[in-house]
Amino acid sequence: MKIFISGVAGFIGMHMVLAYEGHTIVGVDNIQPYYDVKLKHERLAKCKDQKGFTFIQADVCDEAKMRELFARHQFDVIIHFGAQAGVRYSKKYPLEVFESNTMGFMVLAQCALDYKVPTMIYASSSSVYGHVNVGPFHEGMDVDHPSSVYALSKRANELSAQTLSMMGETTFIGCRFFSVIGPYGRPDMAYFKFAHAGATQKAITVYGDGSMKRDFTSVFDVCDIIKRLVEVAPHCNTRHTIVNIGATRPISVNTLIETLEKQLGITLIKTYEEASSIEVPLTHCDSTILESLIGPVHLTPFETSLEAFTTWFKEHKPYAYLDPFID
Ligand SMILES: NC(=O)c1ccc[n+]([C@@H]2O[C@H](COP(=O)([O-])OP(=O)(O)OC[C@H]3O[C@@H](n4cnc5c(N)ncnc54)[C@H](O)[C@@H]3O)[C@@H](O)[C@H]2O)c1
Repeated sequence: MKIFISGVAGFIGMHMVLAYEGHTIVGVDNIQPYYDVKLKHERLAKCKDQKGFTFIQADVCDEAKMRELFARHQFDVIIHFGAQAGVRYSKKYPLEVFESNTMGFMVLAQCALDYKVPTMIYASSSSVYGHVNVGPFHEGMDVDHPSSVYALSKRANELSAQTLSMMGETTFIGCRFFSVIGPYGRPDMAYFKFAHAGATQKAITVYGDGSMKRDFTSVFDVCDIIKRLVEVAPHCNTRHTIVNIGATRPISVNTLIETLEKQLGITLIKTYEEASSIEVPLTHCDSTILESLIGPVHLTPFETSLEAFTTWFKEHKPYAYLDPFID
């Protein structure tokens, strides 16, 4: 297959490239400095070691550049991860996040239609569910009250996909990811920030009392599931489907802290701050629709998913060369 992947210097993008070893991949990323770009260059170096991989540094909002790429290559599938992530960042820089995420999506989706790419898989987020206290969250629930501009931008992508799916032959599948974790992870996410603080003897900030829960999901499961979605996409009976991708077992921040302490052999110094209104109390995935599409899925237990990260963290020592993420 010939695959277009955006966000390849990012966490999930790099793992997606590695999961498609043996295929021809054109990977795009603008390497923006939301967090330390040293980590992005390291991920890219791993991608570049893979035969059949070509990297283009570009912004997916650059329509002329994207059209040039799509005119040159007949892609079988687009996997769109390139976006400005981070709920808290979107509170500080709402226009930047909204513009980049919605325009980037529209440019690629329009290219999918115009250049007759059969399948486009794109990253949405569990944050679209907003403030819901009771799980699990299923795709039919109300998602019209996003509590951050980041969530709004992801919901806007879903609505754009719905509209564009009626205008051509491309099948769109939107994946609502639930807190993805793993090696080479994102330094702005709590598990990485906490590990980094522990290794550099800094205090961590816990929002609320630590009872907030997240459905932490292995990046390896995410990539396996996406590959299976790519296989079934041509047989979908609608041109736009939205699926949750999450481990289905929410874990509290307090349990995350205890497990990190155990796996890293450290004691974290905790400080507490009031939770902000953009932080949702719970994410909890229902995977019924996903399983109806691709059959039973293997979902790695939280401790094992976290261990893949902590093992990498101990061996790789990213705290020795990465600037801590500041939000
Ligand atoms: N990691 C998670 O838990 C999670 C959860 C829900 C949704 N998501 C979504 O999954 C996708 C991948 O997330 P990630 O965790 O790998 O994040 P990441 O920040 O590590 O990767 C995103 C990559 O996209 C690139 N990028 C950003 N804007 C771009 C643009 N306009 N043009 C080209 N490249 C651009 C960035 O430089 C970065 O390397 C994102 O769309 C994110 O919103 C992630």
